[in-house]
Parts: sequence; structure tokens; C-alpha cells
Amino acid sequence: MTCHLLIPAAGSGKRMGADRNKLLLSLLGKPILQWTLEAAIASKAIAWIGVMGQPHDYSEFQKIFKLLNTTKPICLIQGGVTRQASVFNGLQSLPSECDRVLIHDGARCLATPELFDRCDLSLQMMQGFIAAVPVKDTIKVVNGLTIVDTPNRDHLWAAQTPQGFQADLLKNAHLKAVELGWEVTDDAALFEKIGLPVQIVIGEETNLKITTQQDLAIAEFILRQRHTYY
Ligand code: CTP
Ligand code: MG
Repeated sequence: MTCHLLIPAAGSGKRMGADRNKLLLSLLGKPILQWTLEAAIASKAIAWIGVMGQPHDYSEFQKIFKLLNTTKPICLIQGGVTRQASVFNGLQSLPSECDRVLIHDGARCLATPELFDRCDLSLQMMQGFIAAVPVKDTIKVVNGLTIVDTPNRDHLWAAQTPQGFQADLLKNAHLKAVELGWEVTDDAALFEKIGLPVQIVIGEETNLKITTQQDLAIAEFILRQRHTYY
């Protein structure tokens, strides 16, 4: 049994300050999105990949797809105005046989195939999960510029993707969000609002999200340390 993967890639990368979608920027000679796709392709657990993009990026995305050496189906799906809307569209485009879905941000291009495999294995035993790592910094809750709380770090984890869910449950959660006007920044938050359990799968310290120019430099450093490029 295998799972389906949706990759939100329909952002604009405002914080990167580039003139186009940050996922098209080059990282060691390859577009960021290509790194993400190559890791997903190398994961045995993933049988089908859907990529949500904006129509103005379609031709660049298709060029990347052509460079990939795979027999796995890769579908282009129209993204939405927000990440949540992009995932919603992706869920509507899943093949009917899909029972487990992973969502993984195109911008997390350093996730390894092993992480995808481990996530799918866990999802076979749970309704929903997120990859996450324990927080290393002391986190402050601030109002204006005044600290109002210092939560116990033992209970704080930094959320990553992949996040994964039983597909019918996530579809229902997204429909409910549209109905009730919920706006969230990740899919787990919808499960939490409904009261469905979401487990932690231990993520990877190097699984960073490329957000700024600095992240791009760190990603390059990490990739150079790796012995193999998939
Ligand atoms: N994303 C998406 N649809 C949107 C917005 C974002 O599919 N309408 C995707 C991005 O392409 C990215 C992931 O969601 O892979 C995480 O979003 P983020 O890192 O915030 O990317 P951007 O929204 O592109 O960047 P920024 O917020 O700096 O503009
Ligand atoms: Mg964004």
C-alpha cells in the first residue's frame, strides 16, 4: 500500500524578495522545487504526486517535471490565493483510490526520502501526524514588546512538513473550514479545531523551509555536506 503526496508550490515568495516564485530559484544549479520532487520520487512510499502551482508558473514547472527521471505520475493542479486554498484544490484532485495523503511544502527542499517513508509508515497507524522537532530556543509570548509568558519548552515543538492524514478526514476538515471561515497556516490546525488527534513524527533538523535569502545559503551548505544527491 502506498500513499499520495500533495506539494503546495503556488506561493510567490514575498519574503525572499526575488522577482518570481522562490521555488524556481536555483539551489546548487537546480530549482528548489526540483530538489523537493527528487526526494519525493526517491521515497518508496509515494505512488502519486500532485503539485499545486499558479498558472503563470506552469511552463517552468513542466520544464522541471521533464527533467525528472521517474515513472510516478506527477499532476499539475491550480493553486489558490492562500496555502490553505491550494491544499483544498489539491485534495479535490486526488485520485479516488487515495486513502492516505501527505502534504509537503515545496519550500522544504531538504526533506529526505527516508523522512517521507517514515512518515507514511506512521500514518498507517494513525489518523493524522506532523513532522516536528523539539524547540531549542526559549520561546517568549509577547504583547507589543512586553513579555507576557515563557511557556515550558518541554511542551514546545516546531512544526514541519510532511504532515499526513487519512484523506477522507482531511477533505471533510477542509470543507468544514470553508463553511465556517476558519483560516489556518497548516493542515494539522484544522484537525485540532475539529478535535481529531494529530501525532508527532520526529522530523529532521535540516528540514528547513526556504523563506529568506539566508535560508538559501544554509540549504546550500547542508546539501554540500551530504554524500549523495538523489
Ligand atoms: N503556497 C501555496 N499557495 C499559496 C501560498 C503558498 O501553495 N497561495 C506554498 C508555497 O509555495 C510554499 C508553501 O506553501 O511551498 C509554504 O509557504 P511559504 O513558505 O509562506 O511560501 P510563500 O507564500 O511563497 O512565501 P512568502 O510567504 O514569503 O510570500
Ligand atoms: Mg506564505
